[in-house]
Amino acid sequence: MTITTRILPETPDGHATPLLTVLVSEGGLPESLVALDRQVDGALRRLFQSRDFKGAVKESVVLYPNGPASRLQVVGLGKAGEITRDVIRRGAAIAGKTAQGLGVDRSSLFLVPEVAAVDIAEASQAMAEGLHAGSWRFSAMKKPPEDPKPDLASVALLFPEGKDDAERGRGIGEAIGAGHVFARGLQVLPGNVCTPTHLATTATDLAKRHGFTITVLDGNAIRAEGMGALLAVAQGSNEDPRFIILEHNGAGDDSAPIVLVGKGITFDTGGISIKPAPNMEDMKFDMSGAAAVLGTFETLGRLKPKVNVIGLVPSAENMPSSTAYKPGDVVKSHLGKTIEVINTDAEGRLILADALSYAHRFKPSCVIDTATLTGAVVIGLGHHAIGLMSNDADLVKEVLDAGQRAGERAWELPCWEEYHEQIKSDIADMKNVGGRSAGTITAGWFLREFVEGYTWAHLDIAGTAYTDRETAWLVKGPTGIGVRLFSEFVLGRQ
Ligand code: BES
Ligand code: MN
Ligand code: ZN
Repeated sequence: MTITTRILPETPDGHATPLLTVLVSEGGLPESLVALDRQVDGALRRLFQSRDFKGAVKESVVLYPNGPASRLQVVGLGKAGEITRDVIRRGAAIAGKTAQGLGVDRSSLFLVPEVAAVDIAEASQAMAEGLHAGSWRFSAMKKPPEDPKPDLASVALLFPEGKDDAERGRGIGEAIGAGHVFARGLQVLPGNVCTPTHLATTATDLAKRHGFTITVLDGNAIRAEGMGALLAVAQGSNEDPRFIILEHNGAGDDSAPIVLVGKGITFDTGGISIKPAPNMEDMKFDMSGAAAVLGTFETLGRLKPKVNVIGLVPSAENMPSSTAYKPGDVVKSHLGKTIEVINTDAEGRLILADALSYAHRFKPSCVIDTATLTGAVVIGLGHHAIGLMSNDADLVKEVLDAGQRAGERAWELPCWEEYHEQIKSDIADMKNVGGRSAGTITAGWFLREFVEGYTWAHLDIAGTAYTDRETAWLVKGPTGIGVRLFSEFVLGRQ
């Protein structure tokens, strides 16, 4: 469900549309809405004068005026001085969610210029992103209703000033929004549909549509490549694993690529170290890292930035069976290091290990992996921050900045040598779990064992990849986390 956005250099008064949303800050009726207020017989002024609406964050009212717009929505953004990109993005998401709920197929959005603390390009980008985020739904697996509502298909962004800047931001925001909803559409699919084969087919289709180079390794090719850790995880399932390599060549052959790696466990039962039944169904989201990488490629395909980017997706299903790998097994990774498997539920780091060592051949400028890696990151950071680990302070700053711009914030955890002790094994080069303490950090340390010759950052998205709570701007389910951060990161390196 992507939305076609366009910039209209118009003021909101006199604008005919099924739904006009105006984003406002706290305080009285802004000057830029006076003309519109006159057209709707003072309804806006009365709204601002009432105590019913203050313009605080998340506040939203829909009016049915006798004017050119058949519905007029007023959405609060909070205090004028505190309005960031993310506040605008969330305001636009509320507009998108409302439009989708009302069943209008087109609408218009106006950010009152009085609150513009961010520049016009950033604001229009955030608006396009937010509209996609808020309007996303998944109903493909339900019997269609008798009178289906249309999807929100096109939105006009009203910018009376700064048309060119607005247009530049809109183009970026629409492409990022499209990548974001692409990721969510993939995340939401159940494990019986979204298998490693399905991820590979999806990536192949992406490559065809956008002209990327693609290579897909199947089980036999993965064996030939020596990816013993990925194979160990896959061996308990009838689903054949896949290793996907997508390449966007935007800067010619001499420029070192950014490599993005995404964990693609299409279902994580835990294997022989099986997980408890409650909420196990959520483990269909264990391919959210893969979805973030593929979603980012949807964005890259639309924007074609002058940067080289490679996407790597190791994908398998983690199942218990008579052929499954077992606690105590020692497996040999692609890099050659051996791993003692203590817990078969710590499978994500195994498949990522082989991808990280595979990344080496591209002589990357940096590698960033993203993975629903540890339950411990939910204990440490809850559902509001991505756990970040890295071997390079400059890269940390670059990733944190990209996350801030994207509204997908990360928080750094220490990668100190002291934690390394916890994954030492008696009989192999390392073991795959480091005990109860600092579970996210020891998982990161495990990955670092496979990082050789490049700067690297790791994003643990286990707490942020999906949500069981509906908010004013997002429905329950997959969040598409990582697409906006990755896109900002890549565009920042153009
Ligand atoms: N996929 C899980 C992590 C996860 C937990 C994702 C909750 C989303 C929500 C991962 O493969 C896993 O099972 N990790 C174990 C590691 C442990 C065995 C060291 C965990 O976090 O419990
Ligand atoms: Mn697991
Ligand atoms: Zn997992």
